[in-house]
Amino acid sequence: MKGIVLSGGSGTRLYPMTRAANKQLLPVYNKPMVYYPLTTMMMAGCRDILLVVNPADEEAYRRLFGDGSQWGLSISYVTQPKPGGIAEVFLLGKNFIGNDRVGLILGDNLFYGDSLPALAERGAKGGGAVVYAYWVSDPQAYGVVEFAENGNTPVSIVEKPKNPRSNWAVTGLYFYDADVCDVAATLPRSPRGELEISDINAHYLKAGRLMVHKLGRGYAWLDTGTPSSLLKAAQFVETVEDRQGLQIGSPEEVAWRMGYIDDGGFERLIDPIKDCEYGKYLQRLLARG
Ligand code: TTP
Repeated sequence: MKGIVLSGGSGTRLYPMTRAANKQLLPVYNKPMVYYPLTTMMMAGCRDILLVVNPADEEAYRRLFGDGSQWGLSISYVTQPKPGGIAEVFLLGKNFIGNDRVGLILGDNLFYGDSLPALAERGAKGGGAVVYAYWVSDPQAYGVVEFAENGNTPVSIVEKPKNPRSNWAVTGLYFYDADVCDVAATLPRSPRGELEISDINAHYLKAGRLMVHKLGRGYAWLDTGTPSSLLKAAQFVETVEDRQGLQIGSPEEVAWRMGYIDDGGFERLIDPIKDCEYGKYLQRLLARG
């Protein structure tokens, strides 16, 4: 399976923080924001990853990730000339996707929950399209799923509805079969000039090929696109990490735990950073085995 991490966008809601820095490079407590969605993809079993970035930010992302081999990944890059919508990635990433199934995660979304890796793996292995829904207090801000009376069959998906039919928001983690590139190529742009991910999902829904998994209350799905939500996400990470002494969203740790790198590879990552807090944390993990 291929994976795409979307790290472009204009980040206008975070101005002036995003005037010179790309949103997904801003910190969420102690790591760059993009580490959190990247590690979610890694935990779903995805090692072949395409990063979609703005042209001005490509160099910074390359500095951060390189080719991914240090984490047992293959990371490649494509630039999006201007923010033309989330679904535009299926035009930009057509060659990368080829005939494979593909996962897409938004670079400003943070997922947390015990069985999330298993749930994401189901998306990776399923057919058609698999998306996740989360109960939110402000569904007007999201794509909203309406379910049939049985509570499980999706019947409609509407982007940012004025009168939402439910509180179930579609999250920023999606899985599709390779047909998604052809679907995206046939979609018209929305009135705001973007290729909308909700239109892709609505297409799969109409074809009876959309599965929506509900994330229960034991999960956290946070987005970090406004000053307030960014602060709340940072506080969430700080609270959990401080309580457990375990970090959320560390690519080095996930690569090691998933077996993408061995003890020797892990040690090589730690060595140059062994005197900083983050390096000491990774050292403790390795010592514990
Ligand atoms: P949004 O939060 O919808 O848009 P944005 O990041 O441009 O921010 P703002 O609304 O404050 O201007 O984007 C969701 C995610 O998708 C985010 O991680 C950025 C990414 N994105 C792209 O990479 N390319 C795009 O064309 C769009 C619209 C979003």
